[in-house]
Amino acid sequence: MSEVVDPAQPVHPHIDNSLHAEHGTSYGHVKGEGVDTSHGAILYLEDITVSFDGFKAINKLNLDISVGELRCIIGPNGAGKTTMMDVITGKTRPTSGTAFFGQTMDLTRMTEYDIAHAGIGRKFQRPTVFEQHTVFENLELAMKMNKKVRPTLFFKLTLEQKGKIDDILKLIRLNGQEHRLAGLLSHGQKQWLEIGMLLMQEPQLLLLDEPVAGMSDAETARTAELLNELRGKHSIVVVEHDMAFVTEIAQDGVVTVLHEGSVLAQGTMQQVQADERVIEVYLGR
Ligand SMILES: Nc1ncnc2c1ncn2[C@@H]1O[C@H](COP(=O)(O)OP(=O)(O)O)[C@@H](O)[C@H]1O
Ligand SMILES: [Mg+2]
Repeated sequence: MSEVVDPAQPVHPHIDNSLHAEHGTSYGHVKGEGVDTSHGAILYLEDITVSFDGFKAINKLNLDISVGELRCIIGPNGAGKTTMMDVITGKTRPTSGTAFFGQTMDLTRMTEYDIAHAGIGRKFQRPTVFEQHTVFENLELAMKMNKKVRPTLFFKLTLEQKGKIDDILKLIRLNGQEHRLAGLLSHGQKQWLEIGMLLMQEPQLLLLDEPVAGMSDAETARTAELLNELRGKHSIVVVEHDMAFVTEIAQDGVVTVLHEGSVLAQGTMQQVQADERVIEVYLGR
C-alpha cells in the first residue's frame, strides 16, 4: 500500500496529519491503531524543560492525558502553554525531559511530520483554511490528505465519505453553508471549519490553542457545545484564556494551571478557582 500523500495537494502542514480513516461515517473513535494506549495514557510528559538562551519557557513540566480525556489548560500569558504544544508536535525540541505519545512513541525523537502522521492534530491560534475553496472542498481536501484514504487519480467520494463530511458539517455548525467560499466565513466559522478539517484526519489527540480567541459570545458558546459533543470521542487538550468557556467545557474534568513553565495547580475547575496560588498569579489579577 502506498504511503504517499497526494503530491498535487497544497502544502498545509497542520492538516496534513494523521491516519485512521477506515471506520465509516463516525468521526469519533478514541482508540486507534498505531498508538499504544494500553496503559490508558495518550500523552505523557515528564520533567520537560525548554530553555531559550537560558530562559526556561518550560520548567520541569509534568503532564498526563488519558485516552478520551478533554483536558483544559489555563495560565497567564507567557506561562508556556504554546511552547508546550510546540514540544508535543515536535516544533520545538525540549532541552531535557521525556515526552511520549501512548506507550511507545518518543515525541522527542520524531519529526514534526511523523508526529502529525502518528495522529496528533493541532489547531493554531489563527484559522488557516483554504479561502478560495468552499467549505465542502476544504473538508474534502482534508480527507484526501488522510494517509489511510487511498489516493486515486480521479478522487471520487464514496457514499461513506460523503456521509462523514455531512456528519462533520453538522458538528461544526456549517451544514447548509457547504457551498460557501471559506474566505467569506466569519472568524468563528473559519475556526470551526479548521476543527472539522482536523477531525477529517481522525487524530488520536487533538490540540487546540485558544480556539475561542476573537470569537463573539454566541460563537464562543457554540464552540463550547461543539467541544462538549466531542467529549469522550477524542482525546483533546484545550488551551484557553476565556474562563467562562473553560468552565463550560471542563465540567468535572481536570483543569491544569500553568505558571512560569510548570504546573501550578491541577484539579476540577472549582478546586483550581479556589486555590490561593492560582488566585494570586492568575484569577485575582
Ligand atoms: N522561540 C522563542 N524564543 C525565546 N523565547 C520564547 C520563544 N517562544 C516563547 N518564548 C517565551 O517563552 C515564554 C512562554 O511563551 P508561550 O509558550 O508562548 O506562552 P503562552 O502560550 O502561555 O502565552 C514567554 O516568555 C515567551 O516570550
Ligand atoms: Mg500561547
